[in-house]
Amino acid sequence: MTFQLNTPIVVVAPDYAHLCERVADQISAQMQARPNAVLGLATGSTPLGVYEILVQRYQNGELDFSGVTCFNLDEYYPMLPESPHSYQAFMQEHLFRHINCRRWLVPDGQAGSPAQVAQSCREYETQIKDAGGIDLQLLGIGRTGHIGFNEPGSPPDSRSRLVSLAPQTREDAAEAFGGFDAVPQQAVSMGVGTILEAREIILMASGAAKAEIVRGAWSGEVTGRVPASWVRTHPNAALYLDQDAASRLEETPQE
Ligand code: F6R
Repeated sequence: MTFQLNTPIVVVAPDYAHLCERVADQISAQMQARPNAVLGLATGSTPLGVYEILVQRYQNGELDFSGVTCFNLDEYYPMLPESPHSYQAFMQEHLFRHINCRRWLVPDGQAGSPAQVAQSCREYETQIKDAGGIDLQLLGIGRTGHIGFNEPGSPPDSRSRLVSLAPQTREDAAEAFGGFDAVPQQAVSMGVGTILEAREIILMASGAAKAEIVRGAWSGEVTGRVPASWVRTHPNAALYLDQDAASRLEETPQE
């Protein structure tokens, strides 16, 4: 496969709080420029501070989500939306119950048979397309190099689908689920191709535990072994890090 390798911007903030401010500023700017913006959102610990700031800005009257549509990257499978472990519940708790967004979607983790899951994934892709595509996609990065739940081996043209979670990913989620065996083995995730179609991408990482995979994704070769490395082929992508996550990048650019 041939692709154009771009040199996405790397922003290094001094700490997590500043990192979240910078990312929240980008999302706020997008919403101010386009009140009907379509946002792609991530769960996990990394964006929590960003969501807190967006909620504050909404409560201060600085942001209006009423015209905004949000699509989340992924959901565990099988997973009931009302389960406290669902990403649906996570987004409700940390963002949507606090703001006035009228349309937010999370992939369906309870679709049933493989054929039903495949159908609901096709519908999710159609919903994204019908919304006009994603203007700004926020990503975290897993220690396997996953974006969404696209684990190593995911091709760059993959679409929303049922995926298997890597053991490392399940280990990282074990505490939240009360043990490794309680973590679902599968998830429904937007594909790498779905993600790369967003008009702008922000990949965000925080903490020393991410330093090695950030280095692998940004300084190593672009390869399906590190799905986050595909983001470097995107014409409008930026990497937002705190100092700890940036500590192993070969050249550490400063703010
Ligand atoms: C979450 C997602 C994942 C996470 C990644 C990092 O919706 O798609 O790719 O962004 O696993 O998770 P945290 O932020 O918890 O380290």
